[in-house]
Amino acid sequence: MRKILTIIGARPQIIKSAAISRAIRTTYADRVREVIVHTGQHYDRQMSAVFFEELQIPLPDYNLQVGSGKHGEQTAKMISGIEAIIETEQPDFLILYGDTNSTLAGAIAAAKLHTPIVHIEAGLRSFNKRMPEEVNRILSDHVSTYLFPPTRTSLTNLLNEGFRTDNQAPYTIDNPGVFLVGDVMYDNSLYFSSVAAERTAIVAQRQLSPDNYILATLHRNNNTDEAERLNAIFDAMQTITRTYSMPLVMPLHPRTRKQMDALLTPELYDAVRTNPYIQLIEPVSFLEMTQLEQQARLVITDSGGVQKEAFFFKKPCIILRAETEWVEIVEGGAAILCDADPTRIQNAYIHLLNNDRVDFPALYGDGTAAEQMLNKLLAAL
Ligand code: UD1
Ligand code: UDP
Repeated sequence: MRKILTIIGARPQIIKSAAISRAIRTTYADRVREVIVHTGQHYDRQMSAVFFEELQIPLPDYNLQVGSGKHGEQTAKMISGIEAIIETEQPDFLILYGDTNSTLAGAIAAAKLHTPIVHIEAGLRSFNKRMPEEVNRILSDHVSTYLFPPTRTSLTNLLNEGFRTDNQAPYTIDNPGVFLVGDVMYDNSLYFSSVAAERTAIVAQRQLSPDNYILATLHRNNNTDEAERLNAIFDAMQTITRTYSMPLVMPLHPRTRKQMDALLTPELYDAVRTNPYIQLIEPVSFLEMTQLEQQARLVITDSGGVQKEAFFFKKPCIILRAETEWVEIVEGGAAILCDADPTRIQNAYIHLLNNDRVDFPALYGDGTAAEQMLNKLLAAL
C-alpha cells in the first residue's frame, strides 16, 4: 500500500483534489491510501466546507488552520505544519495543486525532507513574476519529482526551462518525470456537469434566463487591491448591463467584497448596488457554479479556473487580466484579454456575442487525467 499526502488549502485546490480522491476511491483503493492536509488558507464555509460535502472529498486528516495573513507569515506557518506531518506520516509522495501559498509551502517542506513531490498543474506560466502565483509555481516545479502539465503549452514551458520528457524511472528531484495526461479540472467538469443539472437550480432561483446573463468573478490581487483597476472593472460591468439590459450575476470572493467596501467610489458602489441587472451574491458551491457556467451567455473573470471552465462549456470569456497562462483559449478566439480597461471590455463583449465562429477544441485531455496520473505514479515505483 502506497501513501499519498495531499496538500490543499485554497478553494480551487479543494475542487481539483476531488478528481484524484475519486479515482483512488473507485480504482486504486487497494493500492493507495490518501492522507489529506488542509492548510486552512481558505476557511469560510462557502470557500471550503461546501466542497467536501458536495464533491465527496474525504474530510481532511489534518487542518493546520493557518488562515489569512501576509505571504511570509502565512507560508511559514504552513511549512512548519506540513513538515511535522510529513515526519509523522512518512508518505511515498506528496501531491501539490496549482500555484497558491499552500502549494509553495508543501514544496519547500517536502523537498527538504526528500519526499517526492507530485505537481499537478505544472508548467503554467504568465511570464509576470509580480504575480505571487508565478513565483509559487516556478519554485514548486523546480523541486518536483513528478510534473503533470495540463496543456501542450505548459509542457513546452517546462522543456524551455530544462525539463525533459525522456528521463527514465526511477524519478528523483534531479531526474524528474514529466507527463502530459490532461487536466483534472476537465475530469471534474465532465463528471459533475450532469450532477449539477440534477442537484441544483441556482439559475432559476436567481430568476436568470438560460443564455441571457453574464457570469462574473473577480479576485486577483492586482484587480481587487488597486483602486483604479477595481473601479474600472465595476464601471465596465455597470455600463454593459445598463446599455444592453443584460443581467449579470457575480459570486463575490471574500477578498473582493472587502475591497469593494474599501476602494470603490461611493457613487459607483451605490450605482452597482442599485443596478437591477446586477446580482452580487455569496460564493456559490461547485455544482451551482457549474450550472451558472453551463447556462451563461458569456463569462467575465480573472480566475484561472473559471476561464477554463467557460471554455469547457463552450462559453465566450472576457479575461480581466493582461496575460493568461491558458493561452490556447485566447489563441482560438474563445476568450479575449481585456486587462482592466472598460473600452476593451465593452468591445470584447460586442465582438464575442456577435462571433459564431469560435472554436472550442479538446485541449485538456479526455476526462481521465486523474486515473492516468495515478497509473504513472504507481508504475514509477
Ligand atoms: C488565493 C491564491 C490565488 C487563488 C485564490 C483562489 C495565493 C497567493 N493566492 O488567493 O492564487 O487564485 O486563492 O481563490 O495563494 N478570505 C476570507 N475567507 C476565506 C479566505 C479568504 O475572508 O475563507 C479573505 C481574507 O481577507 C484574506 C483574503 O480573502 O486576506 C485573501 O485570501 P488569500 O488566501 O490570502 O488569497 P486569495 O486572494 O484567496
Ligand atoms: N468556484 C466556485 N464557486 C464560486 C467561484 C468559483 O465553486 O463562487 C470554482 C470554479 O468553478 C473553479 C474554481 O472555483 O472550479 C476557481 O477558483 P478561483 O476562481 O477561486 O481560483 P483560481 O482558479 O483563479 O485559482
